[in-house]
Amino acid sequence: SPKELKEGLLTVNPPEEDENTVDSDAKGDDSTVSITIVGASGDLAKKKIFPALFALYYEDCLPEHFTIFGYARSKMTDAELRDMVSRTLTCRIDKRENCGEKMEQFLKRCFYHSGNYDSEQNFTELDGKLKEHEAGRVSNRLFYLSIPPNIFVDAVKCASRSASSANGWTRVIVEKPFGRDSDSSAALTRSLKQYLEEEQIFRIDHYLGKELVENLSVLRFSNLIFEPLWSRKYIRNVQLIFSEDFGTEGRGGYFDHYGIIRDIMQNHLLQILALFAMETPVSLDAEDIRNEKVKVLRSMRPIHVDDVVVGQYKGHTRGGQSYPGYTDDKTVPEDSLTPTFAAAALFIDNARWDGVPFLMKAGKALHDRRAEIRVQFRHVPGNLYYRNSGTDPDRATNELVIRVQPDEAIYLKINNKVPGLGMRLDRSNLNLLYKARYAKEIPDAYERLVLDAIEGERRLFIRSDELDAAWSLFTPVLKEIGEKKVIPEYYPYGSRGPVGAHYLAARHNVKWG
Ligand code: NDP
Ligand code: BG6
Repeated sequence: SPKELKEGLLTVNPPEEDENTVDSDAKGDDSTVSITIVGASGDLAKKKIFPALFALYYEDCLPEHFTIFGYARSKMTDAELRDMVSRTLTCRIDKRENCGEKMEQFLKRCFYHSGNYDSEQNFTELDGKLKEHEAGRVSNRLFYLSIPPNIFVDAVKCASRSASSANGWTRVIVEKPFGRDSDSSAALTRSLKQYLEEEQIFRIDHYLGKELVENLSVLRFSNLIFEPLWSRKYIRNVQLIFSEDFGTEGRGGYFDHYGIIRDIMQNHLLQILALFAMETPVSLDAEDIRNEKVKVLRSMRPIHVDDVVVGQYKGHTRGGQSYPGYTDDKTVPEDSLTPTFAAAALFIDNARWDGVPFLMKAGKALHDRRAEIRVQFRHVPGNLYYRNSGTDPDRATNELVIRVQPDEAIYLKINNKVPGLGMRLDRSNLNLLYKARYAKEIPDAYERLVLDAIEGERRLFIRSDELDAAWSLFTPVLKEIGEKKVIPEYYPYGSRGPVGAHYLAARHNVKWG
């Protein structure tokens, strides 16, 4: 559970306390945490944030004194908010247990205030309501910006001026997208920093809260067998794969302005790459880890446009059922060239990774839903079993697969002898399948991240220099794709994506896993 995680990890490196925080012990009796979800009427709030808060409450991870406020323009009473929230809450923690009572208790801690995002007056009213609930205790306040990015700054300005804590900490979780290129991202950071210190800004990349992404460092740094192999000497290529078996349904308006490279590669996949490739950090402290991630990002070779393939899904009929094309969405321009698929070859020009292709592939409306890291190792030099067989030794290389989702697993493909009197080789998996090994459900990424923000743990949030480095890497190639109006390769909804991705991989001597 997140609680066990906290006890296991954070006792080793307790988070630094904010300056001016009178009592940052969130469990202490005389402090309280007020969590305001700005944009509470929206999709993310309903789908992820309220359920994550409920799960934390269920697991007894929230402080004794806490209040949740929904804030948005929609008119709603507290009862209507509770009704809205209750319709999306499910008990993921223990399906056999009746969660009804816990849900009732949780909902009683949820309130709503209707207001505009750019109204200091409305945030002052919110402040008044928060104070009533805080009842004179040390007040710690967390604002979760679950709103479209064009109103981030207005909301931060009003929240910081009119509703920040007078005697405890104030923190703001900012959802992606953090800009759409280096300039707009820097402008957003500058604007946010007019009202907040960097320590108050928690930029969320929910992939960092996924169990197997968190486990990457454990796998590398606490198992003797992996770290010595983790370099160009033994690793031939690394693949970072994201695929969804549904399109941009309902989010076309947002998506068309960003495209898959900004939506998935520049953040989720690049963050995984940085964790995968970084050097051993000095400690598990947030700054030490983020320092190492930045070094990786800054060592990356500029991405050449020839090393990128873009695609867009088109309508398709299969088995009597028809699937829409990307531009069939009414909120997407008919002539949109926005990629819904991309594959790219990236390189880290440092001593550890020189020459090793890191291949990324991300796409919507593909044949399956998965997120994976695949590590293909070099072949065994002079392999006794393949030497004179005429078989390509590359067919027998080891591969480590970290399946982030679904069905979280880590498996290693090894060669073994087929049992019997003959001598025939087979490939098998040494398999750690999480659901077979652990009875307990894996927490949703948002649970971990919200809890970390409450506890002031920044390890899994993006620091501004990391963000700058990530945009520096992708901005030039995005600009070139935009300026050249690169026509995406069209692929049918539900297919394996454009064939160009295979040519790209082949150019780097890679076969997608
Ligand atoms: P929504 O579009 O549902 O917006 C959230 C709320 O913001 C709405 O309920 C609405 O509330 C208000 N709002 C919407 N558009 C405007 C506008 N133009 N001007 C003022 N207020 C507006 O967003 P999501 O909940 O989907 O996402 C919230 C944030 O999280 C976004 O930044 C998004 O990019 C990010 N995100 C979302 C994911 C998802 O799965 N949904 C995944 C990852 C990130 P009201 O009208 O009541 O004020
Ligand atoms: C979001 C993207 O960041 O991640 C979405 O904006 C995508 O387009 C989503 O669908 C995927 O998240 P998950 O956790 O469902 O894999």
